[in-house]
Amino acid sequence: CNVVVLISGSGSNLQALIDSLNESNPARIRAVISNRAEAFGLQRAQAAGIDTRVIDHKQFADRDAFDAALMEHIDAYAPQLVVLAGFMRILTPAFVRHYQGRLLNIHPSLLPRHKGLDTHRRALEAGDSEHGCSVHFVTEELDGGPVAIQAAFTVRPEEGLDALTSRVHAAEHVIYPLAVRWFAEGRLRLCEQGAMLDGAKL
Ligand code: GRF
Repeated sequence: CNVVVLISGSGSNLQALIDSLNESNPARIRAVISNRAEAFGLQRAQAAGIDTRVIDHKQFADRDAFDAALMEHIDAYAPQLVVLAGFMRILTPAFVRHYQGRLLNIHPSLLPRHKGLDTHRRALEAGDSEHGCSVHFVTEELDGGPVAIQAAFTVRPEEGLDALTSRVHAAEHVIYPLAVRWFAEGRLRLCEQGAMLDGAKL
């Protein structure tokens, strides 16, 4: 299963995916594309011998032009799956439709709670007793597509923002490789009713 990963930053989720690749995992990361040249994840990809490419959104007149270029570069790798791993650009409906059913994202909250940015601070401010992260299929609704897997844990009473953030990250590094592997194995897919695992609705 050919996979293209899109990043904008550190790429710790990319690293977790790289670390999960082995003979028994049918996923193969063919390329990592970043919209920022300084994204550390590009170095992680290079260290793993994976093709990298920078497509700087600032070089394009608008979102449509950027997304069109992005699609062209992604499609050159003929991926069965496109993985958003800390890719900090909102994608156009045309892009999302083009990859319908083969576009996954990881979001640092228990969706549908806390869509958008700043999720850990918002979870603390809301006094949430539980927090976590979600892998979901991307649809035209921002952070609103069907969830494939979530990791949830209890927020500790005295827990600060840094501790909570790093616990979510650690959980992300467990569930994202799992979801990608399920997809690559043909076990996870998107159908009209939502996300399905082994033929059962999630
Ligand atoms: C993660 O927290 C992810 O949930 C969010 O962006 C962050 C990316 O982190 N979408 P990294 O670049 O994978 O370290």
